[in-house]
Amino acid sequence: GDALPPKSVDFSFHGPFGLFDRAQLQRGYKVFVESCSSCHSMNHVAFRNLSERGGPGFTPAQVRVLAAEFPRQVIDGPDDFGDMFERPGRPADRIPPPFPNEAAARAANNGAYPPDLSVIAKARPGGPEHIYSVLTGYQDPPPNVEVRAGSYYNPYFPGGQIAMPPPLSDEVIEYTDGTPMTAEQYAKDVAAFLMWTAEPKMEDRKRIGFQVMIFLIVFGVLLYFTKQKLWRAVE
Ligand code: HEM
Repeated sequence: GDALPPKSVDFSFHGPFGLFDRAQLQRGYKVFVESCSSCHSMNHVAFRNLSERGGPGFTPAQVRVLAAEFPRQVIDGPDDFGDMFERPGRPADRIPPPFPNEAAARAANNGAYPPDLSVIAKARPGGPEHIYSVLTGYQDPPPNVEVRAGSYYNPYFPGGQIAMPPPLSDEVIEYTDGTPMTAEQYAKDVAAFLMWTAEPKMEDRKRIGFQVMIFLIVFGVLLYFTKQKLWRAVE
């Protein structure tokens, strides 16, 4: 059946002037790395994007460390002998995927495919709220519902059953800035991070939109007085 409407979440980036919360995006990246990235790819994001304007605001030096310390190495090559090889990540690399292709991903997940998360926040109705709701929406099934083998009851996912095991629980990811280490907080932070990966130029878009409105107002006022002056002698 239909999914429940997503829970409403008070994100900093809501509204025409809302911006990302840098610290939240940094925590969300940590949640992605330590929880989601073992199953989901992030093929459209390179490590260097993490230090670009409008994003999590890591420094280039921090990004070099994040790339080198990512849980998986990057596959490179062919070398002089025609062989592929693994090496630590560098800022210019895309985030390395957990599986080489969809068939391998399905084989490791009971036939279900964990979608690439790069733009999922723009691809699903409800966006970051939908993601938050799925992550926090696991429940015991009502007595009349038969849950398929390898699936979990989750009324926020279309069909009410999802093949993703609950990826978050309290205390599983270490936060060092005093933010509560709860499943709800992890879900909120990773949903915000996925909103940024899906729309990395959101802050520029809002700033330019605001400047365009100011320009149009000023221009409209000037046009009005120009028109008054030009038509003064007529009629
Ligand atoms: C599906 C996010 C961790 C396996 C999904 C979906 C989202 C998501 C948004 C799709 C929902 C939709 O299509 O509307 C996340 C996040 C994670 C995470 C943010 C980390 C916090 C994991 C982990 C695994 C996994 C660790 C594997 C153990 C899957 C699978 C699906 C899925 C197999 C497809 C489900 C289906 O089609 O029934 N995930 N995921 N996910 N995820 Fe995850």
